[in-house]
Amino acid sequence: MDRERTSNDSAELERTRQLLDDREARLNAILDTAVDGIITIDERGIIESVNRGTERIFGYTSDELVGRSVKLLMPSPYREEHDGYMARYLQTGQPRIIGIGREAEGQHKDGTRFPIDLAVSEIRVPGARVFTGMVRDISARRRAEAEARRRNAELAHAARLSTIGELTSGIAHEVNQPLTAMVNFAEACLRMLRSGNADTHKLEDALGQITVQGQRAGHIIRHMRRLARKGESERVTVNVSHLVQDVLGLVSNELRASGIALHLVLDESLPAVKCDRIQVEQVVLNLVRNAMDVLEEGPAEGRELTIRTRADGHENIEILVEDAGEGFAVGDDERIFETFFTTKPDGLGMGLSISRSIIEDHGGRLWASPRPGGGAIFHVNLPAGDGEIA
Ligand SMILES: Nc1ncnc2c1ncn2[C@@H]1O[C@H](COP(=O)(O)OP(=O)(O)OP(=O)(O)O)[C@@H](O)[C@H]1O
Ligand SMILES: [Mg+2]
Repeated sequence: MDRERTSNDSAELERTRQLLDDREARLNAILDTAVDGIITIDERGIIESVNRGTERIFGYTSDELVGRSVKLLMPSPYREEHDGYMARYLQTGQPRIIGIGREAEGQHKDGTRFPIDLAVSEIRVPGARVFTGMVRDISARRRAEAEARRRNAELAHAARLSTIGELTSGIAHEVNQPLTAMVNFAEACLRMLRSGNADTHKLEDALGQITVQGQRAGHIIRHMRRLARKGESERVTVNVSHLVQDVLGLVSNELRASGIALHLVLDESLPAVKCDRIQVEQVVLNLVRNAMDVLEEGPAEGRELTIRTRADGHENIEILVEDAGEGFAVGDDERIFETFFTTKPDGLGMGLSISRSIIEDHGGRLWASPRPGGGAIFHVNLPAGDGEIA
């Protein structure tokens, strides 16, 4: 009877041991499949076990590590700090790393250092305390981060270059207009002088225009340079009806030469708008130029251009540039604002995109709609300021 029990007991014991062995083997197998390194150390920092991941990451075999200090896997200054950390923790129970995790550095068997994510946890077993360290090699992540930073820097650089490129085309576009006007006025002066009966008043008028256009080109370049440097503009309070009249003063000769009938419907009592005067003048000029371009393409009769200023009923000011040209293709009302979109042989496709960015920079909107009866209407909507007119 007793013998029977003993043999039963030992069979039970054997089964239990078998079970435990099985579980340990399974556990080790699981630990070994982990990509991360898993290291257990005792209170003195002596390595008790490591998984395959640890071998892969650090280049040592398990035999080379078990029984050695974990400091073997740390470069300076972590190596020197380690004993202090352990002693302080064991004394005070205040964790610095344990249960928190941090980024640190590991040292490979071949001496190279590499970045790691380290998480340490404490496991209390009867009669002892062990610490488990989970180590993840983050070199690949770091490389990817460095690569991403480098690419971002390159992208930022490319974006800046393309902005400068756009700006350069912008300057070419804006300055070309006053230059063309100056050449035309100068040629007119020459013709008058050569004809032998130059009218002093007409000469004076043309020379005055040349001066105005020259100053305008200078203004534009100064503004563009300021834009390139600091991205800031100079805001003053303006009556947009006066602003429109000033712009038309620059093109009235050309309008007349092209047989374009100009209708002005300007509200003189509009509230002031706070804006960069030169920039908004550029916008109106771009819209008027586009209207002139399309009208000059069409038949000589019916070349009508209407410019309105009005309050929009929502505390905003509107400038409307309407032409009776052929209009834009259905569905193109947004495309025409894209940079480099042009249907003209010599067009840059910059005018509307620059204009829209200027107006949006002022907190306003710029859009296009078909004109009833044919042609296009461009709407400039600007928030009204409450300041005094400058
Ligand atoms: N008033 C208009 N009527 C019809 N189409 C227009 C009108 N204004 C602009 N467009 C269309 O929008 C396109 C883009 O205009 P945008 O002013 O941006 O460039 P562009 O006039 O072609 O060249 P540029 O850069 O020299 O001004 C024009 O090519 C034209 O097809
Ligand atoms: Mg244009």
